Amino acid sequence: MSYNVLLIGSGGREHALAWGIARSPLLNELYVAPGNPGTAELGRNTDLDVSDFEAVWQFVQKNAIDLTVVGPEQPLVDGIANFLGAKGHRVFGPKQQAAMLEGSKEFAKEFMDRHSIPTASYKVFDQDNFDEAKKYITEQDNYPVVLKADGLAGGKGVFIPESEEEAMEVLDELQTSSSLKEAASRLVIEEFMVGEEASVFAICDGDSYQVIGNAQDHKRIGEGDTGLNTGGMGAYSPAPVVTDEVLERVEKEIIAPTVQGMREEDNPYCGFLYCGLMITKEGPKVVEYNCRFGDPECQVIIPRMKSDLLKVIAACTENKLGDTDIQFDNQFRTCVVLVSGGYPTEYKKGKEIHGLEDVEGVIVFHAGTRRENNTCYTNGGRVLNVVGSADTLGESIKKTYEQLKKIDFDKAYYRSDIGVKGLKHLE
Ligand code: AMP
Ligand code: GLY
Repeated sequence: MSYNVLLIGSGGREHALAWGIARSPLLNELYVAPGNPGTAELGRNTDLDVSDFEAVWQFVQKNAIDLTVVGPEQPLVDGIANFLGAKGHRVFGPKQQAAMLEGSKEFAKEFMDRHSIPTASYKVFDQDNFDEAKKYITEQDNYPVVLKADGLAGGKGVFIPESEEEAMEVLDELQTSSSLKEAASRLVIEEFMVGEEASVFAICDGDSYQVIGNAQDHKRIGEGDTGLNTGGMGAYSPAPVVTDEVLERVEKEIIAPTVQGMREEDNPYCGFLYCGLMITKEGPKVVEYNCRFGDPECQVIIPRMKSDLLKVIAACTENKLGDTDIQFDNQFRTCVVLVSGGYPTEYKKGKEIHGLEDVEGVIVFHAGTRRENNTCYTNGGRVLNVVGSADTLGESIKKTYEQLKKIDFDKAYYRSDIGVKGLKHLE
């Protein structure tokens, strides 16, 4: 069997997935919608409106696509896997009801409750009834407290006020903010968990799963995890904080009951499962689920995979993951994200990128770039991902920064401490 594949998305994650898929001997044609200049080198980018499922279906038919792989959460939460699945098309990515693990924090919390999966204690409030929420926060009198908009909010729906006054301000903002009002029609108030964050990823076929790696992301814009939250400024894998013992607990207490729980509830999960964790003194607890691969975590995990990614993905869509052996190499990988100065707030696009052809021995995954007449320009906040590998974490960090320094554009910014948290565990 050879496959014509449609990959949906345009970020660094999708460039990494395209890189993995393009190496497969099973691949016939790879299309990426909409893709980026990196994916254009591996397949054919196509200007498809992926929110128009009917248009996607037309494309699938016209190009004899055998398998569609969905990168980002929005189309999954909107039901693309249901729509294409109902036409008899094979989709790698969870159906809408299963994507609710990310699409609704309330759904995820209730699911974890039902299956005794460790997470922060919580209570849910309706926006029409924020007086109750205020009363609850005042009565608890325990800060910091975590306030989360129930729905997808592009990473901007979580607040961690340090005092009653700050909490009240957040509640007022959630009721009035045009961008958050809808996502916050329901509000989850959570206990603040103390510990170090890490992510563990699994690939699932509805019945079974396999753990495919762990990583630590760096979400804040500033050195030492300070400043505003971003989509992710860098990652490394494997993360030393995820010891064998932690991993065993994550699998037993979190991943296995999640996959089994979804199956028991007649809501089987097929796709990448992202478990965002807090490694607390009592053990690993779930901070959030995502119904997709992480970005930039994907960029450090896919290159570790020695097995054929397309074969593994295809096996998942046929419910045959159980028979598939997935192998990884033993290298550490570090990814540093080059962003446009000003990101995650205001930044300018269209800056010429220099030095891309000078880097050696690392992989550069594109994200917010645009190519015109063989010149690359910035075209977004997160611009490029540089990924280096080595036998040790320290070496992989060094190699990544050495090469990254060869790339430049006006007001380019990156964090210079990616991976340092991991090194501390090895001291
Ligand atoms: P989320 O979108 O749910 O991943 O939340 C964004 C970030 O907020 C996480 O990466 C954590 O750093 C932080 N966070 C969320 N929930 C909690 C919690 N219950 N305790 C401590 N930190 C949290
Ligand atoms: N790196 C965080 C995320 O993909 O949500």
